[in-house]
Amino acid sequence: MNNSTATMDSGHRLFVVFISFIAALAGLLFGYDTGVISGAILFIEKQFTLTSGQAETVVSVVLIGALVGAITSGRLADRFGRKKVLLTTALIFAFGALGSAFARSVPTLVAYRFIIGLAIGVASYTAPLYLSEISPKKMRGALVSLNQLMITVGILVSYFVDYGFSSIEGWRWMLGIGIVPALILFSGMLFLPESPRWLVLRGFVDKARSTLMHSRHEKEAEAELEDIKQSVATEKGSWRMLFKRWMLPVLFVGIGINFFQQFTGINTIIYYAPTIFKLAGFQSNATAILATVGVGVVNVALTVVSILLIDRVGRRPLLFLGLIGMIVSLTALGIAFHFHLHTHTLKWVAMASMLLYIACFAISLGPIAWLVIAEIFPLRVRGLSMSLATASNWTFNWAVSATFLTLLKVLHPSGTFWMFALLGFLGLIFIYWFMPETKGSSLEQIEFNLKVGKSTRELGIPVKS
Ligand code: BGC
Repeated sequence: MNNSTATMDSGHRLFVVFISFIAALAGLLFGYDTGVISGAILFIEKQFTLTSGQAETVVSVVLIGALVGAITSGRLADRFGRKKVLLTTALIFAFGALGSAFARSVPTLVAYRFIIGLAIGVASYTAPLYLSEISPKKMRGALVSLNQLMITVGILVSYFVDYGFSSIEGWRWMLGIGIVPALILFSGMLFLPESPRWLVLRGFVDKARSTLMHSRHEKEAEAELEDIKQSVATEKGSWRMLFKRWMLPVLFVGIGINFFQQFTGINTIIYYAPTIFKLAGFQSNATAILATVGVGVVNVALTVVSILLIDRVGRRPLLFLGLIGMIVSLTALGIAFHFHLHTHTLKWVAMASMLLYIACFAISLGPIAWLVIAEIFPLRVRGLSMSLATASNWTFNWAVSATFLTLLKVLHPSGTFWMFALLGFLGLIFIYWFMPETKGSSLEQIEFNLKVGKSTRELGIPVKS
């Protein structure tokens, strides 16, 4: 393995940051299109006089679409390239936004929201995949996490758009505006280079070299190219390779981290924050929504903090810190509900706990779950493996969101939040035993370690070849 230490000059740095921002717009669409429905549904319900079952379908069909999109598209990113897949996804986002804005019936609306879901499912892993493959190793954590930053910005923007159009009950505008970032993503992506790693995989070594030269010093680019060439000189990628014995530990880590990202309850807060705030005693809809905007702002702000720290402090310390904070805040939330603290106290404890929770998620499991799955899989089956891990994320997301309201009834709010806290505790054990520290290691180094049989915890540690 080459351990080149050349530093980047500011021109190179600017170039990769610029391309990363464009590709990360896919994250913005992910965030916007999952967030916007919480406000829009109120008016959709009214216009079409929906039953609660129909309303649930309109809301949750996006998650099903995302699951289907993620699992069925894995081969596409490996076969046609990361760039083409992202371009097509941008068009699907635009088509879905327009279609849902003009939908005249509930089935049509459901169909278009499903199509948007497909695009979200594909974009949710192709963007981090592309970002990890164009990034120089020292900035990879930050650049891949730009995608998560854009997810949080998308969620926040959707709250504001919902708020802005609520006075005219403008659900069509709320859904339709998603076309704007979709078209920006499409036009921006047209000018971006294809992933150098995918180019090598398909035999376009010269093109890969020229992309790398734009963003690295010549010496570093050549060294990286050599490493990539070596890593593709192995067997052909296929579904069968995915389930080979040596792949199973990384699949376990990839799916495991997604399990803990979702089963510690993030989307009960993202999707149901106003419900929780009202349960805790914030009477009016307006205050509950304002408090939700607070959650959105903290989510964005702390994701920025994570981006600044991730390549310096590393992935594992942030995961430990974040998860401990999430466990503490979930436990506090449970205590507040359990002891029926005087409502005035309860509502402030609930507010403080939820803000602490979201802050801790944003520095840890939010960005790092997506980052890890963009780092640990071997190049030949990276698209395929990421699609599988991503499909697991959407399945877990759906399972938690679909059962949350029932859980509140069966386990009460306190039992529900304590259950998430307990799962967070299991998450700590999982991270301690299995999570690699990939800070500063090249993707090829990680792949090499995997192939020589290192444990998942040691995947990021440089070894002499
Ligand atoms: C998760 C989403 C979540 C979002 C919140 C993402 O990393 O995958 O499920 O809604 O973070 O910021």
